[in-house]
Amino acid sequence: MKMLVALLLLSALGNAIVVLGNDSKEQCSHKPKLDPRPHSVSIVEFGAVGDGKTLNTGAFQNAIFYLNSFADKGGAQLYVPPGKWLTGSFNLTSHLTLFLEKDAIILGSQNPDHWGITDPLPSYGRGIDVPGSRYRSLINGYNLSDVVITGNDGTIDGQGSYWWDSFLTQTLNHSRPNLVEIVESVGVVVSNLTFLNAPSYTIHPVYCSHVLIQNISAYSPPSSPYTIGIVPDSSDHMCIENCNISMGYDAITLKSGWDEHGIKYNRPTTYVHIKQVNLQASTGSAVAFGSEMSGGISHVLAEHLDIKNSFTGIVFRTAPGRGGYIKNIEVSSVELENIHTAFIASGQYESHPDEEYDPSALPILEQITIDNVVGVNITVAGSFTGIENTPFEFTLSEISLSLNSASTSSSAWVCSDVVGSSKSVSPEPCPELKSSSNSNSFSSSITTLSSKGSASYL
Ligand SMILES: *[C@@H]1O[C@H](CO)[C@@H](O)[C@H](O)[C@H]1NC(C)=O
Ligand SMILES: *[C@@H]1O[C@H](CO)[C@@H](O)[C@H](O)[C@H]1NC(C)=O
Ligand SMILES: *[C@@H]1O[C@H](CO)[C@@H](O)[C@H](O)[C@H]1NC(C)=O
Ligand SMILES: *[C@@H]1O[C@H](CO)[C@@H](O)[C@H](O)[C@H]1NC(C)=O
Ligand SMILES: *[C@@H]1O[C@H](CO)[C@@H](O)[C@H](O)[C@H]1NC(C)=O
Ligand SMILES: *[C@@H]1O[C@H](CO)[C@@H](O)[C@H](O)[C@H]1NC(C)=O
Ligand SMILES: *[C@@H]1O[C@H](CO)[C@@H](O)[C@H](O)[C@H]1NC(C)=O
Ligand SMILES: *[C@@H]1O[C@H](CO)[C@@H](O)[C@H](O)[C@H]1NC(C)=O
Repeated sequence: MKMLVALLLLSALGNAIVVLGNDSKEQCSHKPKLDPRPHSVSIVEFGAVGDGKTLNTGAFQNAIFYLNSFADKGGAQLYVPPGKWLTGSFNLTSHLTLFLEKDAIILGSQNPDHWGITDPLPSYGRGIDVPGSRYRSLINGYNLSDVVITGNDGTIDGQGSYWWDSFLTQTLNHSRPNLVEIVESVGVVVSNLTFLNAPSYTIHPVYCSHVLIQNISAYSPPSSPYTIGIVPDSSDHMCIENCNISMGYDAITLKSGWDEHGIKYNRPTTYVHIKQVNLQASTGSAVAFGSEMSGGISHVLAEHLDIKNSFTGIVFRTAPGRGGYIKNIEVSSVELENIHTAFIASGQYESHPDEEYDPSALPILEQITIDNVVGVNITVAGSFTGIENTPFEFTLSEISLSLNSASTSSSAWVCSDVVGSSKSVSPEPCPELKSSSNSNSFSSSITTLSSKGSASYL
């Protein structure tokens, strides 16, 4: 009897959020139990018309306002049936499931007046594209818990061409919107959907915890400027798995704020597990760290990555002024095919939010491991250019890259201000990355740590 009461209490609160441990490997191992919501309404009941022409912003806002009253009664579902549902920005609410049926397509309006304007994120201090404020994202969540965006392979299409053109012609008055942005929320699931043509980022969890992104595909065309798939930003305890992402710029980018704004906000991206993803990044990188990383990025495991037709496979971007760190990162079991540069680590991403940044705030990159990589048709194996007096630290092992005819042996690896070790890496890496190649990584990391006097990690 007691058992039954406990279960009823739990279901009255909606989906229980299982607290995950502080280990990147654990993040994909506990799946939230997604019970059907006890209440469901269709967007049609709020007057929406799925003809691709009628603007349905009011219907979405009214439906979600109504469903908010079920938040303390187990939550509710907003059902989107087949059709083309044109809308401007709207906000989600807690204990809500947004469910898109097969052949349901939510279309983002191409009229900027339908998106609204919002303040810059405090960890950035300004919009990314242009100084000042930003357009609101199409689907927004603020300060929520237990929110699910899912479906039976429905589609959310940002129709981003208006925004890409405005970016390229430099006629944006505010920075571009994202497709889905969830801020300061706990217990977020995004699954079983297709995301198309994001104006800028496709899925942007910021200041969030316990986020699961599973079984989605995301596509923006190769020519779309600086479009990115998933951007974990000052967020922790995240799992990204079974996703197919193809973007103009990066597929997955981990960030944590920009220069003095990010240092002050001080919220890292940590405990992230990325696995079983197929990635393509036309002009950027399949997996990227930074360049905005001022709140720190740590404890990330990215594994079983299938990366094709991309400019770069894995990139670490930063610059003096960022502060923060990228550490305790493992990138493992990677297949690369048709890639210009397999790995880049650069301390020269000199874009700053304003003149107030502190050039002596030097970022730390250490304990970064890349292992078990096979690559074909690669032009440059690795370009590692760190920061003077603050070398980046890498461990490379079991890497086999077959270079194409555009490659030259002298340009296969480019290294400066980097230290590290390597084991079974071909082509043979630069001398900076060959130290202690025969010792095991345990003893080499002890050496590195003690030489820096960094006892705190031990
Ligand atoms: C994880 O670390 C945070 C601080 O970083 C701490 O508050 C929390 O209790 C830890 N959680 C577990 C399960 O150890
Ligand atoms: C969405 O939420 C934001 C932040 O709370 C608020 O400023 C905005 O007015 C909301 N928009 C709507 C349409 O409710
Ligand atoms: C966030 O939500 C909690 C309850 O869910 C509420 O108490 C708090 O006032 C909200 N904070 C903001 C900034 O809206
Ligand atoms: C992935 O999503 C599709 C619908 O979008 C669904 O049919 C399929 O069962 C899902 N696969 C998994 C492993 O959840
Ligand atoms: C941007 O600002 C200019 C000058 O105020 C204005 O003419 C233009 O209509 C604005 N563009 C948009 C998309 O709001
Ligand atoms: C995705 O869809 C499949 C098939 O309908 C379902 O079993 C699974 O629970 C869904 N996953 C999520 C996270 O919604
Ligand atoms: C990703 O692509 C693979 C191979 O084409 C396919 O089998 C899988 O269903 C796709 N997954 C999603 C989430 O679209
Ligand atoms: C090798 O990769 C490049 C892109 O880096 C691509 O243009 C070219 O077609 C690929 N060659 C083969 C033989 O696949």
